[in-house]
Parts: sequence; C-alpha cells; structure tokens
Amino acid sequence: MCDSTQVSQVLLNLIVNSAHAIKSQQRNSPGTITIKTWVTSESLFCSVTDDGPGIPEEVVNRVFEPFFTTRELGKGTGLGLSISYDIIVNKHKGSITALTLPEGGATFTFTIPLLGA
Ligand SMILES: Nc1ncnc2c1ncn2[C@@H]1O[C@H](COP(=O)(O)OP(=O)(O)OP(=O)(O)O)[C@@H](O)[C@H]1O
Ligand SMILES: [Mg+2]
Repeated sequence: MCDSTQVSQVLLNLIVNSAHAIKSQQRNSPGTITIKTWVTSESLFCSVTDDGPGIPEEVVNRVFEPFFTTRELGKGTGLGLSISYDIIVNKHKGSITALTLPEGGATFTFTIPLLGA
C-alpha cells in the first residue's frame, strides 16, 4: 500500500535528476536511464540508474539534505531528494539510498515495506 501520487513524485524526481546528470556531460550520444522494479516477500524495490557522471564521493552523503544542490545558482532548489526521502522514509517507513557506480553513473534505490509484512 502506498500513496501513489507521492511515490510517482519520487520516481519523477529521480528520473529528472538522472536526465540533468546526463545532460551535464554535454556529450553527443544519448544517455541511458534504467528503471527496475522487484519484490521480495517483505518489500518492494525500485531503482533508477543512469550512466551520467555519478555522485562525487564528498557529496554522496549530503544529497538528501534539504537545499543541497550542485546545480547552477537559480536552477535547482535542492529539495527534490529531501522531499523524496521524507515521502519514502517518514511517510512509507521505507528507505532510499544513493550509490555511485564504479563504471560511472549513479543508482538510487527505494524500498517500501509490503502491507502486513
Ligand atoms: N543521478 C544523479 N547523478 C549525479 N548527481 C546527482 C544525481 N541525482 C542527484 N544528484 C546530486 O544531488 C543533488 C541534490 O539533488 P536534488 O534532487 O535534491 O536537488 P536538485 O536536483 O539539485 O534540485 P531540484 O530537484 O530542487 O530541482 C544534485 O544537485 C546533484 O548534485
Ligand atoms: Mg532534483
């Protein structure tokens, strides 16, 4: 069970972030955003992976902070991930994590416990 409007907002935030990350590289070929969903007996999972620049190690622990942004002044509010964190962790008792991939790019994964699990 979830609030589908809120979870849609989380998904949209993650996809837009991936699109921005890819665009920041100003490369000629298109990037790739991969969305996966899976379920265990206890929880559902959803991951959004991009082949952008990844998240620098010195900021990966800060991306969920309110107003944290590395985007140009006036471009990002830095609220997308803190709102997403609130929706997943506080409102749905789940978790959300950010990971930089060794081959470049980033993966955000969120999980929501199944009702009655
Ligand atoms: N897919 C990603 N790849 C690399 N860095 C990312 C990715 N997603 C988020 N980040 C980093 O996390 C920061 C915070 O993201 P968040 O969505 O909270 O704010 P924002 O995208 O900067 O602004 P807003 O979402 O308010 O437009 C980003 O500025 C960026 O540095
Ligand atoms: Mg964002």
